[in-house]
Amino acid sequence: MHADHSGREEAREEGEKARAPLATSRAGSAAAGGEPILEVRDLVKHYPLTQGIVIKKQIGTVKAVDGVSFDLAAGETLGIVGESGCGKSTVAKMLVHLEQPTAGAIKYKGEDITRLSGRALKAVRRNIQMVFQDPYTSLNPRMTVGDIIGEPYEIHPEVAPKGERRRKVQDLLDVVGLNPEYINRYPHQFSGGQRQRIGIARGLALNPEIIVADEPVSALDVSVQAQVVNLLDRLQAEFGLAYVFIAHDLSIVRHISDRVGVMYLGRIVEIGSDEQIYEHPTHPYTQALLSAVPVPDPAAREHRERIILHGDVPSPANPPSGCRFRTRCWKAQERCELEVPLLAVPAVFRLTESPAGHDSACHFAEEKQVVPPEGLLEMPGETAGETETEAEGGPSQDVDGENGPAPSGSTRAG
Ligand SMILES: Nc1ncnc2c1ncn2[C@@H]1O[C@H](COP(=O)(O)OP(=O)(O)OP(=O)(O)O)[C@@H](O)[C@H]1O
Ligand code: SF4
Ligand SMILES: [Mg+2]
Repeated sequence: MHADHSGREEAREEGEKARAPLATSRAGSAAAGGEPILEVRDLVKHYPLTQGIVIKKQIGTVKAVDGVSFDLAAGETLGIVGESGCGKSTVAKMLVHLEQPTAGAIKYKGEDITRLSGRALKAVRRNIQMVFQDPYTSLNPRMTVGDIIGEPYEIHPEVAPKGERRRKVQDLLDVVGLNPEYINRYPHQFSGGQRQRIGIARGLALNPEIIVADEPVSALDVSVQAQVVNLLDRLQAEFGLAYVFIAHDLSIVRHISDRVGVMYLGRIVEIGSDEQIYEHPTHPYTQALLSAVPVPDPAAREHRERIILHGDVPSPANPPSGCRFRTRCWKAQERCELEVPLLAVPAVFRLTESPAGHDSACHFAEEKQVVPPEGLLEMPGETAGETETEAEGGPSQDVDGENGPAPSGSTRAG
């Protein structure tokens, strides 16, 4: 973060703001439309599908990610949404070099970082950090919070020499709204929301420019989801971070995203500004996902059109020919089986100024407003989100009243 973590009073004040209700759409923020800090081109990840225990025989290929492209501008948030198994986490892991792509390129500030190694990779990895989905399993239960947050300094001592680490970690705790005195406590002494704050502090330790957050709130109680999203929003403003924010739920992504990409079976099927995606969706899959978004306002709910998708998501080992969505699409025609739709502005919208003119991989793209915009202004937990307090309780307590389970394993955040 191109700012250090000093100024605790300021941070504490900001921490209070983090508990305020969510702001609405961030469209038109200065960051949106800026120079890309990250360019992802035709990213592919195929896993071998094997059979046999002793002698493994490859019987197929899981096409987890199959040609994903997007840009991320400095300071902006790209939301990535899609059903389970569509390849979101695999994209995230490739961005932070936890997985090596089968093909394609990831450029950071114009430099292809896809196949870097050694010192060059280490330098880049510092700038792209990850926040993991499950704060119950992603923090090592045997390490203190101070050791967890400070662990990246073992690999990058240049960021915080030994004598400064304790203070740095305490600053980070403060920045994420936790009491710096709890540096010696263990993860089980914190609630789920607080543990995710610890995971976020760890992600911030090396002053990154980009944070890839893989479903950072989906394991949390609905009542604290909005607080963690607000915290991320506040940290972005404070440190100029760019986010790739992954979620199942379009309603959560809307509050933090400048742009949103919708994934289906290893590919992005529609991508645009949050206004374009939420108010002018043109891809049938996006329209179906939107029709399932919770609409708190009863009047808006009445006008929401429900689209029920039939059938399961096909296996990524054997995706349908042509358009991958065709087996569940109510508009599918013969062309959909024969021809892969490209992710581009559909011809019908090319000459218009309409917000419907954004990238959509559908041969028969049509604008359909599924939910009235006013119906999307809230997210689950927003109004109930005033209850989480800092870790003011004693050790071993579920300090903010959440009842998250104890950590089940020793898996650590990478
Ligand atoms: N190491 C692996 N070996 C084989 N297949 C894998 C591996 N990792 C992921 N997959 C498969 O790749 C596909 C995409 O997985 P991924 O975890 O990226 O999906 P996701 O969108 O993150 O899903 P979820 O919402 O459930 O987290 C799935 O079918 C998954 O089973
Ligand atoms: S290309 Fe055809 S099957 Fe695919 S989303 Fe469009 S209409 Fe549906
Ligand atoms: Mg995932």
